[in-house]
Amino acid sequence: MQAIYLNKATQLAKDIIKKVVKSGDVVVDATIGNGNDTVFLCNLVGDSGKVYGFDIQKKAVMTTIKKLEMENVIDRAVIIEDGHENIDKYVKEEVSAIMFNLGYLPKADHNITTKYNTTIEAIKKGIKVLKLNGVMTIVVYPGHKEGFEEKIKLLEFLEKIDQKYINVLKLEFINQINNPPFVLALEKKSKDVVF
Ligand SMILES: C[S@@+](CC[C@H](N)C(=O)[O-])C[C@H]1O[C@@H](n2cnc3c(N)ncnc32)[C@H](O)[C@@H]1O
Repeated sequence: MQAIYLNKATQLAKDIIKKVVKSGDVVVDATIGNGNDTVFLCNLVGDSGKVYGFDIQKKAVMTTIKKLEMENVIDRAVIIEDGHENIDKYVKEEVSAIMFNLGYLPKADHNITTKYNTTIEAIKKGIKVLKLNGVMTIVVYPGHKEGFEEKIKLLEFLEKIDQKYINVLKLEFINQINNPPFVLALEKKSKDVVF
């Protein structure tokens, strides 16, 4: 029998985000890919909210725009073809949530994948624009080479953040084979975060 509640890291990330994001909020999808999380976020923020979406691939941008149009929520989204490490160039307001879904676009070039150095830069800048008690979720895919390296470097970085600034949670399956995806979730507790 299939699990219903505890089977996918992406769903666990959404469950966390659902608790945080309210109608009218401004939020970020840091890796739009096929646009699934972008649509999810647009539905959470409603008519008066805004979703910034980033991806470095034109294919991801085009697919996401099409999906947002079909779902009739395109007016709530600002889709940006640029790396999430440049978030500070585009997002000038405080946001209540940021979602990262790392790795590569399924059924596309697997060489175009998130890399630990730009991911960490984006996380640092993302924390800056998060409002107090804002939440960031990061789905990590250690099952491929770059993803494994990304996992090591991300944990190294996040474990060192003082708990007086941010709570950092790791949600992982401990009895699944082949380095399964896991979720990192951060809640900002102080305006003056020092890394
Ligand atoms: C696993 S996919 C995202 C899936 C997506 N959230 C969805 O719901 O379909 C990861 C995406 O990250 C993108 N990516 C890689 N490096 C990036 C960067 N520096 N900034 C933004 N996106 C990046 C890839 O192009 C790919 O589309």
